[in-house]
This record gives sequence, C-alpha cells and structure tokens, in this order.
Amino acid sequence: MKFFIDTANLEQIKEAQALGVLDGVTTNPSLMAKEGITGKNNILKHYVDICKIVDGDVSAEVISTDFESMVKEGEILAELHDQIVVKIPMIKDGVKALKYFSDNQIRTNCTLVFSAGQALLAAKAGATYVSPFIGRLDDISSDGLNLIAEIRHIYDNYAFETQILAASIRHTMHVIDCAKIGADVMTGPLSSIEGLLKHPLTDSGLAKFLADYQKGN
Ligand code: E4P
Repeated sequence: MKFFIDTANLEQIKEAQALGVLDGVTTNPSLMAKEGITGKNNILKHYVDICKIVDGDVSAEVISTDFESMVKEGEILAELHDQIVVKIPMIKDGVKALKYFSDNQIRTNCTLVFSAGQALLAAKAGATYVSPFIGRLDDISSDGLNLIAEIRHIYDNYAFETQILAASIRHTMHVIDCAKIGADVMTGPLSSIEGLLKHPLTDSGLAKFLADYQKGN
C-alpha cells in the first residue's frame, strides 16, 4: 500500500518524508487556502516546492470545469515537474479530460468520487488514480469503506489498472481497514500515519527493557 499525505503544509510533508515511508502527496484548493497559498503563481510554485521535498507523486488539482480549460490547465500543471499528477473532478468534462490525458501519457487522479459507478467511469477513461472520499461518506452516515470494497471488486473483475487511492481518511483505523480491503493507496493527515506506530504494550515493554538495562549497569 502506498502512503500519501493529504496536506499542502511543507513542514508536515518534510516530517512524513523523514519517517521514510512516504510515497506521495495529495493537495486540493482548500488545503492550499488553509496554508495561505493564494494566486496562480504562488500555487504553481508551491507544487514545485512540494515536489522537491517528496520523492513520489504529487497531485495538483485543476480549477477549470470545462474540457478545453481543464486540458490547458492540466498541461501547465504536468509541465511543472515530472512528479505531478493532474487532479480532475468527476464531472462530465472531467471524464473527457481524463481520457485526453490518458491518451497523451499525462497521469491523472480523478477526485470527488462517491460511488462505484463514478469509479468505473474513471477507470474506463484511463485515470491513473481514483479518489473515493471515504470520510465525507461516513460524515453523511453512508459507508466509505464499503465503497472501497465495491471499487476493488469491480476493478479486479476487469483487471483495470487504475489505482484506488482511498481519500478523505480521517484516522488510523481507516488506513488499516483500507489496507485489509486492498486499496492501492491511502491519503490522509500525518496523524493517521503516525497512529500506526502506537500501541501501549510497545510503550510499557520498552520502558521495562530500558529500566532492566539500567539495573544491570
Ligand atoms: C483527496 O485528495 C482530498 O484532498 C482529501 O482526501 C479530502 O479530504 P477531506 O474530506 O478531509 O477534506
């Protein structure tokens, strides 16, 4: 399973990279705004800054919603760095753009996916990644993990190469459950990755080992 961090915060990206298990970064316009990154040029520069920190795929989202503009914008994003993956929303023109980019060897991440049907379309259009937002489904009392399982089943039936990027991860159990189902990638906050480290028996066991070592010295 690949681990992506879902943030535009450079310090957190550095921290995740230093842990040695980071495979990429996802961003979106809201995450950029949260870091105070506004204006086209600043946003483009920020993507390059992220690419310099992480050794892996960096999703950069288009703002346009019509086919021609999405293509223009996506091509500019893809030119920024070879790690950039163009993030395209699951709308009708977005599906056309996914197909265009796939035909032109530009990698894509289809975002805002909330149903198995949308994921099937994204795969048919040749998306590199599909991003089902599991936390946002849970927020409306739907079942995000069930969606991951449905997509896994459909993609395996037809050997689609599109990778399932479980997004909108809120906590560590989401990561573990997505790994059990077979999501190819998870993207979440640093806390969801660092949570994998924690177990009280590890802490108490280590404390005892260190205390016993001191007794013998
Ligand atoms: C994915 O690419 C999105 O940036 C993200 O996972 C959305 O998560 P949220 O629901 O926590 O905003």
